[in-house]
Amino acid sequence: MNLTTVHTVADLRARVSRWRAEGLKVALVPTMGALHEGHISLTKLARTQADRVIVSVFVNPTQFGPTEDFAAYPRTLPADQKILDAAGVELCFAPSVEEMYPSGFATRLHIDNLTDMLCGAARPGHFDGMAQIVTKLLLQAMPDYALFGEKDYQQLMVIKRFVTDLNIPVSIIGGPIHREADGLAMSSRNRYLSPEERETATTLSRVLSSITDRASRGDAIEPLLETGRQQIASAGFSPIDYLEIRDAENLELMHGVIDRPARVFVAARLGKARLIDNMAIIPANSDA
Ligand code: PAF
Repeated sequence: MNLTTVHTVADLRARVSRWRAEGLKVALVPTMGALHEGHISLTKLARTQADRVIVSVFVNPTQFGPTEDFAAYPRTLPADQKILDAAGVELCFAPSVEEMYPSGFATRLHIDNLTDMLCGAARPGHFDGMAQIVTKLLLQAMPDYALFGEKDYQQLMVIKRFVTDLNIPVSIIGGPIHREADGLAMSSRNRYLSPEERETATTLSRVLSSITDRASRGDAIEPLLETGRQQIASAGFSPIDYLEIRDAENLELMHGVIDRPARVFVAARLGKARLIDNMAIIPANSDA
């Protein structure tokens, strides 16, 4: 195996310092493990920018609510290591909870505005915990680049915000959503779906595609969203946390006819899985 795995911040820093001393560029892909092709596509994108790629694997307790799936979240480090090795990743950072949150840990982070809506409204405290761990990972690894999937588009926007606000010297790169052949966005949580739910799950990308298509051609968005909600509910999703169209940059809610780059977002529960997805809407008459 060419992949090295380290479990402590000291070992991570020692490795990165050696690379820096050799003048190499370093990229970090933070993950919670249970890796799939979506993660691997991020490591490939990382490789186009950097000489060395680090993938962190850490199921971060502080971004899960008390009734969420922290305990059940798949932990598959040996399989993840094989996948990373095959993908040519140099370093896996897999710390323990105690390494990341030693006794006495007392620091919190909160990002205003961008975190009040969408998953922030449905999962109070989620983005505070996410920002806390991503900040720690960035300061621990000090990479030149850090890559995050657009499937968690709101997360990507929140990360760009606090990296700018806190002057963290890293370039944040978003990677496109990776989809199964039938359109379902890849997610570690897809493994919670029964075979029947797995088929139903494709409803989300179908509804988003149809909304994207019609909204980009100038249809008013409210009736499209109403029809979309009905289709998602009658497929068996419950509850639907949101189906909304927002400005692609500042995430402000949009109304009427789309006149600038936007994004349609959905989150809904199917059995044990809470699924999220989103798609870009570019107005047909725009140069964007
Ligand atoms: O997107 C994820 O998997 C997580 O939110 C992240 C960025 C690895 C932080 O725990």
